[in-house]
Amino acid sequence: MRKRTLTISVGLLAVVCALVFVNIRVSRADEFTKEDLDRWNAEYMSVVKQGRELWTSGTLGTNGVACAQCHPNGANTHPETYPKFQQQLGRVVPLRDMINWCLQNPLEGKALEANDPKMVAIEAYLSYERRGVPIDPGKH
Ligand code: HEC
Repeated sequence: MRKRTLTISVGLLAVVCALVFVNIRVSRADEFTKEDLDRWNAEYMSVVKQGRELWTSGTLGTNGVACAQCHPNGANTHPETYPKFQQQLGRVVPLRDMINWCLQNPLEGKALEANDPKMVAIEAYLSYERRGVPIDPGKH
């Protein structure tokens, strides 16, 4: 009789331990601290800052022209409307294709690869300037 009670107790203890373990793992996956959020935001804002520097730089292309001369503060770039059909390119394109179009035409520079840190920084900057605007892909 006493042996059976012991077996049941050990069994219950094992179940409780398993539940606590699972619970800790699940809640860890969902939770992040204020320090996490602050750090991630600081990382993001440092990339936005790089994007703004590229935006106003006369050395991104080859002719001394800066994106900001025609698009001050990212004006008239409408990142929230991509992907969309673009007349200049004759097809539906992501935002980076228009970034590259202006880079190659008004700035007479070379296109950037999609994962080039400079491209990511320009995309981060343009989206940041339009934060809060509802996304509206395809809009003209
Ligand atoms: C000499 C002026 C000029 C400069 C400099 C310039 N752009 Fe443009 N940009 C234009 C014009 C003109 C359009 C076409 C407008 C349209 O499609 O409605 C355009 C369109 C765009 C669009 C798409 C806008 C939309 O509404 O869909 C993006 C994105 C863009 N430019 C990014 C850039 C970037 C990035 C740079 C710098 C590498 C840059 N532009 C430099 C004139 C310029």
